Amino acid sequence: MEGLYIDGGRPLTGTVEISGAKNAALPILAATMIHGGVYTIHRCPDIADVALAGEIIETLGGRVERRGGSLVVDTREARGDAIPGALMGKMRASVLFLGALLARFGRAALTAPGGCPLGRRPIDLHLDAMARLGASVVLQEGAIFCEAPCLHGAVIELLFPSVGATENVLLAAVSCKGTVVLQNAAREPEIADLIGFLQAMGAEIAGTGTDTLTIRGGAPLRETTYTVMPDRIEAATFLCACAGCGGEILLSGADGRHLGPVLDALTDAGCRVCRGRDTVTLQTQGRLRAVREIETAPYPGFPTDVQAPMMAALLRAQGESRFSETIFEKRFAHVAQLRRFGAEIEVVGAGARVRGVAALEPAQVEGTDLRGAAALVIAALQAPGESLVLGLGHLRRGYDRLEEKLLALGANVAVKPVES
Ligand code: UD1
Repeated sequence: MEGLYIDGGRPLTGTVEISGAKNAALPILAATMIHGGVYTIHRCPDIADVALAGEIIETLGGRVERRGGSLVVDTREARGDAIPGALMGKMRASVLFLGALLARFGRAALTAPGGCPLGRRPIDLHLDAMARLGASVVLQEGAIFCEAPCLHGAVIELLFPSVGATENVLLAAVSCKGTVVLQNAAREPEIADLIGFLQAMGAEIAGTGTDTLTIRGGAPLRETTYTVMPDRIEAATFLCACAGCGGEILLSGADGRHLGPVLDALTDAGCRVCRGRDTVTLQTQGRLRAVREIETAPYPGFPTDVQAPMMAALLRAQGESRFSETIFEKRFAHVAQLRRFGAEIEVVGAGARVRGVAALEPAQVEGTDLRGAAALVIAALQAPGESLVLGLGHLRRGYDRLEEKLLALGANVAVKPVES
């Protein structure tokens, strides 16, 4: 087993190039299944979840090849409509192949998707929406069978603006006979990126960036080349790391427009933040201040994926910071591990209070989910002395070349076998 050894207590200074967004690349890869063709996806992050999406495409009969920062996906010969449980269980986004397979073949056989253990993560909104488009949905001993010889238009209102359900509707709807109007759609920037990709394929979709999307199904589709948007969660993670450790960081290839509430919180904490055209810089000196209540919410609210990294950034801030998690019911698994660094955090229901301490001490910790593991890295970077972060598999699901990027910022980190 390998672990990330971190000799913390140094400021972070330098430039980080932000990779393509995981949460945009995954639905885009699913979308390549809708129409057989050769797709070149530039700025496709080299992370485990993307590799898994590639494995799913290959299982379905497609071919996937990495060429540097790009992925070339050939779905011309893909004929499969079933995804084995072993692959489905490894990540939540595997469920996005449901809409894409229905669109291409009129049927899909899958099992419940996996993903980070963040509490109950049902897919009822996805399945209800597919039924509204005319698909029959049969659940049998953990398996999901969907069939729709011909998907039709519909007006669908999501009960909650689910990111994945919005994406699944978009993926299925492009091949419907008729028009689909999706109300209360999620507005995350990654949805706009998926729409951009589908439009580049020839799909007709209106309403990008709003909560009402109109898809005119049946437009002729074609293969295309596309560049994935920068990862706003990776960008936020590095900003939180620098805020916690002190220093000066420049994110290149980042889109500050997607980071509003994160940058506001960091500014409230006393950081100097500056947004350029495709850069974000952050500078800190001295101790941060605690931040007013941070409440996670669907976009454009504060992203739930940044709750844990932001908490780690504020562990040494002066005063008490409050967090309220409204999206996922069990998203405080990192708290128990952060306490090992000497952090003072109290969790009550869906809320957490962080009383800033003067200094953190090194610890051995284990991440149990992707963003929680990132929070542990941020805490370890602040603690003078050697810490060990286990659970690297979680970090590799979502962070492209994390060690390399941290080393370039002056951090002392190394991935090594763990001595037992
Ligand atoms: C996506 C992101 C994830 C992020 C989340 C919220 C990807 C690959 N993952 O996940 O990083 O944390 O958005 O911004 O893009 N829900 C239901 N029924 C459903 C679907 C969702 O009750 O059918 C609930 C979930 O349990 C959760 C909430 O809705 O409480 C939000 O989930 P959703 O927006 O669907 O998140 P994901 O698409 O899974």
